[in-house]
Amino acid sequence: MNIQFDEIQGIITQKYKSSPRGRDCTFIPLTEKWGLKLFNHKETRDLSYDRQKKCLEIGLAPEIGDKIDLPDDQYGYITEIVWCFPNIDTINDENRYLETHSISELDELKDEIEKFQDSFEENGLVEIIKNIYDLTGWNFYDDHVFNWGKKDGKWIPIDFG
Ligand SMILES: Nc1ncnc2c1ncn2[C@@H]1O[C@H](COP(=O)(O)OP(=O)(O)OP(=O)(O)O)[C@@H](O)[C@H]1O
Ligand SMILES: [Mg+2]
Repeated sequence: MNIQFDEIQGIITQKYKSSPRGRDCTFIPLTEKWGLKLFNHKETRDLSYDRQKKCLEIGLAPEIGDKIDLPDDQYGYITEIVWCFPNIDTINDENRYLETHSISELDELKDEIEKFQDSFEENGLVEIIKNIYDLTGWNFYDDHVFNWGKKDGKWIPIDFG
């Protein structure tokens, strides 16, 4: 990915507030293909990076790029953007979604999410979690819907925290 350090800082400042965020990580899209996972602790970043790398070796993770240490205790790494459900985990996320989508689009999304949850086993996700555990030793137990993405028609974890 050809993007300069100060350019990345500019994008973070510009997009931070509107970017999807979980408990540990804020995800900032940088280009069409690449994004930045940003953490408040070096250890958390390193752990996530290492797990993602191991899963990538067995074809079960998005591509991975450089680690980036930023000022103000921000630690990140570059990762490939894959398709995932827009995060509507909290009321805040839901309201943000509604800034650019209609209520009926929100309802449709909720239906899709429900379908995903209902066919969790059918889609082979239990098998994927088991494979990851057997081959890397990492138990992907935080397997909620917003921690999965789809790459080349295949479900893969996107959260390695
Ligand atoms: N590779 C990716 N491609 C596209 N979107 C992503 C990717 N990684 C993360 N995201 C988005 O950013 C959100 C937060 O990332 P992530 O799940 O890694 O953070 P977290 O803080 O560990 O979450 P949790 O609350 O589940 O612990 C994801 O739910 C997803 O919407
Ligand atoms: Mg998550």
